[in-house]
Amino acid sequence: MDFKAELTSAKEEVESIVTSYLPKEEGLQKTVASAMAYSVNAGGKRLRPVLMMSIYKMFGGNSSNKSIAAFMAAQEFIHTYSLIHDDLPAMDNDDFRRGIKTNHKVYGEAMAILAGDGLLNYAYETALKAVSYNEINGDTLLKALDVLATKAGIYGMVGGQVVDVETEGKDNDYDTLDFIYRLKTSALLESSMMIGAILAGASDEEVKKIELIANKVGIAFQIQDDILDIEGDEAVFGKPVGSDAKNGKVTMASKMGLDKAHAEVKKLTDEAVIILESLGYEHEFVKELLLSLINRKK
Ligand code: IPE
Ligand code: IPE
Ligand code: MG
Ligand code: MG
Ligand code: MG
Repeated sequence: MDFKAELTSAKEEVESIVTSYLPKEEGLQKTVASAMAYSVNAGGKRLRPVLMMSIYKMFGGNSSNKSIAAFMAAQEFIHTYSLIHDDLPAMDNDDFRRGIKTNHKVYGEAMAILAGDGLLNYAYETALKAVSYNEINGDTLLKALDVLATKAGIYGMVGGQVVDVETEGKDNDYDTLDFIYRLKTSALLESSMMIGAILAGASDEEVKKIELIANKVGIAFQIQDDILDIEGDEAVFGKPVGSDAKNGKVTMASKMGLDKAHAEVKKLTDEAVIILESLGYEHEFVKELLLSLINRKK
């Protein structure tokens, strides 16, 4: 398998899916649609939809189904909304994201808040399109929608962001940091991978294992993000280096030191890969994808 070529083609597919589901920039409210498109079109790694699609394929999901595409776009909309709000002056107050100015720097704070709200709601409008495609039974679709909603909310990403901002300036212990990372970052990766599995018809037991894999990958992913916030190259990273220190955030990377942090990213990823292998499906692409995140620079 040529991993690089497969990743490039997966990203291209995601790109066309995500842009095809964006709302039209028309009507009196077109500014919000433009602000939404600005951050979505800024790109990014598209990791969540790529993971969703690759897990779907791993479990034998039908590639010609449109339902998976609707959920992939929805997941990327929720992720992009979380970034727009995360960058706001009231939160991390950052000026660059995905290599360009943050949403509020271009559209102003009020419109950035609304663009985030718009993307969050539009995510559900988009996922619900799968109902009209009539490809997947109602119970399965409801399961996927439940995961999409729950993992984004106060028991998922939002909950993690709450504790993240509430404990700024505090020397959080590892248990608190673990709680924050599981929610603010793992939750949306869990959602992405679980939905891929659910829509492909995986069993409840398999979906649980996928959740555990994504949980570990998410914590590793956030530690690597912390590392890059300390020693990354802004031009490659696409967002400010030193944002955590500026905000008085103690991170896993700053707390354990860079050497231990690098080792922890690898350890968690290796643990995730072992569970992936135990599932017994053709997993080469997913494995390579997870391993490629260990040394990512952006
Ligand atoms: C950024 O996520 C937020 C974190 C959870 C660290 P990504 O690093 O996936 O951001 P994009 O989508 O590539 O911009
Ligand atoms: C945020 O963590 C994760 C989100 C839910 C947006 P960070 O605040 O470290 O993410 P970046 O570094 O701004 O992307
Ligand atoms: Mg943040
Ligand atoms: Mg941030
Ligand atoms: Mg960060």
